[in-house]
Amino acid sequence: MASTDAAPPWLRTPDDANALAPKVWPERAHRDADGRLVLGGIPVTELAERFGTPLYVVDEADVRARAARMLAALQTAAASVGTSATVYYAGKAFLSGAIVRWVTEAGLGVDVCSGGELAIALAAGAEPARIGFHGNNKSVAEIERAVAAGVGTIVIDSEIEIERVADAAARAGLVQRVRLRVNSGVHASTHEFLATSHEDQKFGVSLDRAVELGTRIRSHPSLDFLGLHCHIGSQIFDSAGFAESAERLLAAHAELARVSPLPELNLGGGFGIAYTAADDPTPIEEIALGIAEAVATGCRVHGVPLPKLAFEPGRSVVGTAGVTLYTVGTVKPVPIEGGWRHYASVDGGMSDNLRTALYGAHYSARIASRESDAPPALFRIAGKHCESGDIVVDAEYLPHDVTPGDLLAVAATGAYCWSLANNYNHVPRPAVVAVRDGAARVIVRGETEADLLARDAGLDASDRSDAAEGADA
Ligand code: LLP
Repeated sequence: MASTDAAPPWLRTPDDANALAPKVWPERAHRDADGRLVLGGIPVTELAERFGTPLYVVDEADVRARAARMLAALQTAAASVGTSATVYYAGKAFLSGAIVRWVTEAGLGVDVCSGGELAIALAAGAEPARIGFHGNNKSVAEIERAVAAGVGTIVIDSEIEIERVADAAARAGLVQRVRLRVNSGVHASTHEFLATSHEDQKFGVSLDRAVELGTRIRSHPSLDFLGLHCHIGSQIFDSAGFAESAERLLAAHAELARVSPLPELNLGGGFGIAYTAADDPTPIEEIALGIAEAVATGCRVHGVPLPKLAFEPGRSVVGTAGVTLYTVGTVKPVPIEGGWRHYASVDGGMSDNLRTALYGAHYSARIASRESDAPPALFRIAGKHCESGDIVVDAEYLPHDVTPGDLLAVAATGAYCWSLANNYNHVPRPAVVAVRDGAARVIVRGETEADLLARDAGLDASDRSDAAEGADA
């Protein structure tokens, strides 16, 4: 029976283990008269039948609405202090052709951090001038490609990169707009931030070199220096860390701006979402105002004009728009101190959602194919991989009668799940299906075992005959 003793302190026993906490599910997610979860107007049983499980489902209207809301919130806040804001969608959260179209149609630019992400954004028709290119180790070939494509901004991440980008632009006969990524010494996650004088991490340059390196950038005629950039972390719930970071950056910004105009300040992404009912991120409108006011105050203090602001949200655009569907294969109660923990094993796992194993992330889940009157019991949703850390949802109350064949839906898997997916144990990566107004379409094809076999050159007949000849020789 249900045990509450082993549950983590933040997890409450629900009154109704079928209920969908609005903040973790797509806005229009609901149950139909038969108790089935409905996403984008389609019962998930139909999705599972048509596309199989595991399956990533993305609510298109939800992504579009969240992208529009981020843009409106950040632009309104910027306007309230007398400036403007550009918003780039951070593609690392989840990038595909369809997603690029949805976010760009909502008015966002696209932030990419590898040649592959750049290729997808360009192939999907993102306007090059509205693409930002990041990365702590961009290859010269990647830089050249970005410059040639007319990428709007390249974020210089280290001293070495100043010359690399300047040379690539000079070779192409172009002037490249660039930012300089700086560590403000503020590292934030959820509602806490840590402020140190230096951050011990691979990204960016330290704040005390920002003026020197900014000046160096300005010395290159092939570079157009837009301003400083900072990203303080991810899954942040309020504006305090951003404000502290902006305050620190503005001292360097002001010093550079006094020499010649420095038009922009990019404060990165990192706005948090609710993964469980216990998460309570401050609404983006409030966070945005907090940030804009901190920047306005800093500029007044330093006596410099307000720069335009730029942001790069990823998770907050796509996170809660995504749901993963699984089929339960086995269920076993395991005796633990104080009661039982029920292990429900599903047909995916750490290959489609690495975040639980990698970060100890928490998720919410529900039986998706039906409702149940059974009392809630403490479940752990495990995957099918050969590893005990292969957990999808560490702790969740589900109706006690979860049974093989049930569909489980895990909420808020839209960000950093498909993008971190892998083929551990030769498990093919699932398809991504977009749902909207009662229609479903595949936006990323799932892998098959044939795809896995096709890439294994050692299975080639020619490779085997080579080996045989070698052995004979
Ligand atoms: N800008 C920069 C420079 C970044 O490094 C990141 C995320 C973002 C924007 C977008 O941050 P977001 O708004 O999505 O929080 N795999 C981890 C998150 C890694 C974030 C890396 N950088 C996770 O699954 O939690």
